[in-house]
Amino acid sequence: MRLFVDTANVKEIYEAAELGVVTGVTTNPSLAAKEGISDPDAYKKTVQEIAKVISGPISVEVVSTEAKDMIEEGLKIADWIDNVWVKIPSTLAGFEAIHKLSDQGINTNQTLCFSTNQAILGAQAGSTVVSPFVGRLDDIAQDGMAMVGEIVEIYRKFPTIKTQVMAASIRHPFHCHQAALMGADISTVPFGIIKKMAEHPLTDKGMELFLNDWYGSK
Ligand code: E4P
Repeated sequence: MRLFVDTANVKEIYEAAELGVVTGVTTNPSLAAKEGISDPDAYKKTVQEIAKVISGPISVEVVSTEAKDMIEEGLKIADWIDNVWVKIPSTLAGFEAIHKLSDQGINTNQTLCFSTNQAILGAQAGSTVVSPFVGRLDDIAQDGMAMVGEIVEIYRKFPTIKTQVMAASIRHPFHCHQAALMGADISTVPFGIIKKMAEHPLTDKGMELFLNDWYGSK
């Protein structure tokens, strides 16, 4: 399973890139707004900054709601950088946009996916990747990770489906562990959680003991 970082914070992305553990980035309008980005020009500038250190896919979301507007916006976004995945919501208009953008060779990320059926539709429409939102489903007492498992199982059953599965709305390190076991192709993870994935008290204790023994013996 590949790891992407789920943020529009350039500093965090540069730090994550230095670690060598992430191969892509996902952004969305809320993450962009959090960084003070509120217009397409500023969004474009930020995405181009990100592309200097991340050679893998960078997801950029449309804010239009009608299919023809999503397509127009998606085509503009596709010009910003080489490796963009245009994020399109899981609505009927969204499926039309995914279908027409993918027909033109544009990679798409079917976002805001909350059901297995939505993922089935996205695959038919030709989405490059589907993003099941795990944490937001857990928040309403539904099993987000079970949805990831079902989508992976169905996609693998039908080899003509080329759509990848990216576990999104990841809230804690155990979500990443579970997504990998479920066979998700990618997990997109906030940088704070990536850092937590590295933590283990026995690693800290072990280092302390090793260093005490080494320096204590001098
Ligand atoms: C995915 O691409 C989204 O940006 C993200 O995972 C949403 O997560 P949230 O539920 O934490 O906002």
